[in-house]
Amino acid sequence: MKHLISPLDLSVEELDELMNVALDISKNPKKYAEVCHGKKIATLFYEPSTRTRLSFEAAMMNLGGNALGFSSASSSSAAKGESVADTIRIISCYADICAMRHPKEGAALVAAMNSSIPVINAGDGGHQHPTQTLTDLMTIRTLKGHLDHLTIGLCGDLKFGRTVHSLINALVRYSNVRFVLISPDELRVPSYIRHDVLEANGAEYQEVSQLEDALPKLDLLYMTRVQKERFFNEEEYIRMKDCYILDTKKMTLARPDMLVLHPLPRVNEISVEVDKDPRAVYFEQVQYGVYIRMALILKLLEIQV
Ligand code: NCD
Repeated sequence: MKHLISPLDLSVEELDELMNVALDISKNPKKYAEVCHGKKIATLFYEPSTRTRLSFEAAMMNLGGNALGFSSASSSSAAKGESVADTIRIISCYADICAMRHPKEGAALVAAMNSSIPVINAGDGGHQHPTQTLTDLMTIRTLKGHLDHLTIGLCGDLKFGRTVHSLINALVRYSNVRFVLISPDELRVPSYIRHDVLEANGAEYQEVSQLEDALPKLDLLYMTRVQKERFFNEEEYIRMKDCYILDTKKMTLARPDMLVLHPLPRVNEISVEVDKDPRAVYFEQVQYGVYIRMALILKLLEIQV
């Protein structure tokens, strides 16, 4: 049985196939409308979410299936002290596939080890978020036409931002992808990403602290939120929270074809006036997230259409 815990669980070929299916889904939604009839997805969310949880549920419903689950730890038996391992054994009796978000790194892996249904990691602490990465890759491939030969700026909280960690893991496998890592010193990408992912794969990267300096050379800017919930002290968060704000003035420094992505939710890091700029594609990105999750559910349930 297959699970999706890290973006590396899928080969580049499998990713390509998945994106092809997602593209077909976007063009022919009717063809897929009943293919999961009678199937259920459980969404086990121990941390807040809008997009990820609802897009999994919408994805299953678009395929003719149903969804059940919980949206906070306090409304599940975790509040009574139940372990993830026990919960997933129970859920395996109720659903055909599950998506789990948990504040602890490695929780989805523990679930997968104890599960008799496919488990999808929908975010484990500050570690990984593979389905956001599938969404990001699908957005880039569709709007840029390719995933190689790109200079990608990642900006904001590169330390705690799991979407950043997963995206770097996935992109180092494509040729001639250069990374510009834009963060304050305190929020630099963790050293395991630098050494075991970027350097181990021979990826070209640069760490800078000024967004303005990086902007003119980027094909793509991936903005991220400062991850308030992962800070140990409030003062530190307050000091960091507005370290980067992309506004229309800064956008004049960027190339006319530079795309702006963001996993969302946005707080202050992109001013709302940028939303009108055709290069801002973060709301389009959300729609690609549904198509790619539909394709992923089909793959993990081994349903051929
Ligand atoms: C991200 C997450 O949960 O890591 N959100 C999402 O799933 N799109 C990013 C974030 O919360 O900042």
